[in-house]
Amino acid sequence: MSIRLEEVHKAFGRKEVLRGFTIEIHEGETVSIIGGSGVGKSVALKHIVGLLRPDRGEVWVDGENVGRMPQQELYKLRRNVGYVFQFAALFDSMTIGENVGMGLRRIPEMSRASIAERVAECLRLVDLEGFEERMPAEISGGQRKRVGFARAIATEPKYLLYDEPTTGLDPVTTAVIDELIMRMRRELGVTGVVITHDMNSAFRVSDRVALLHEGRVRFQGTPTEMRAADDRIVRGFIEGRPELMGAAP
Ligand SMILES: Nc1ncnc2c1ncn2[C@@H]1O[C@H](COP(=O)(O)OP(=O)(O)O)[C@@H](O)[C@H]1O
Ligand SMILES: [Mg+2]
Repeated sequence: MSIRLEEVHKAFGRKEVLRGFTIEIHEGETVSIIGGSGVGKSVALKHIVGLLRPDRGEVWVDGENVGRMPQQELYKLRRNVGYVFQFAALFDSMTIGENVGMGLRRIPEMSRASIAERVAECLRLVDLEGFEERMPAEISGGQRKRVGFARAIATEPKYLLYDEPTTGLDPVTTAVIDELIMRMRRELGVTGVVITHDMNSAFRVSDRVALLHEGRVRFQGTPTEMRAADDRIVRGFIEGRPELMGAAP
């Protein structure tokens, strides 16, 4: 069982964002995809749940071709693949409990009581026990991120995709979120894909890190391998030295 993107190409108008992007994520692993702003990290992630379809190439999740999946099948797939959005994306007019229970209410077999129970359990897992009746506006940015996590795990997905889970957070909150990503894996056994431009987070939470550059995976390896890599783009990225990457100053 795995997630596999094979030679994925995706353009918007004349802008070619992915140009032969290939990566495989095995069951039980946490893999981070790093890269500069606007290189196509979110675009890559959206292919995994069929929010975007490749122009060319293939996307496979557990042996199923997501790029060709009919819409109805995609809904089923998404119960299995939780998505933690970049900006938490909570509905401001709903309580925290209603936000977390969103995906559960679409499952016909689930009673109100079992939804409430599951919501409480998910909030407990992200250390927000008893937050059901609060509104998104009443809680901090870090707490909103955690609600986003709770919502993503509510349907007990096998996979969790995290889009920039620590962007814009202070170092202490970042450490809390990183710990949570590791806990999701440890306690729930989920396979994780983390998009980030934070090297420290990537190295902390991942088994493997892949650098997305110019539409392709420029380098991938364990954090140790990446730290030791002598590729100039990798060095430029991890040392924060754009001049090595050939970018204009
Ligand atoms: N739905 C879309 N329509 C048009 N352009 C898009 C769309 N989604 C992303 N892009 C463009 O693709 C590029 C990569 O975007 P994105 O994956 O969001 O970058 P990042 O690596 O920061 O997550 C950007 O130039 C963005 O403007
Ligand atoms: Mg993004």
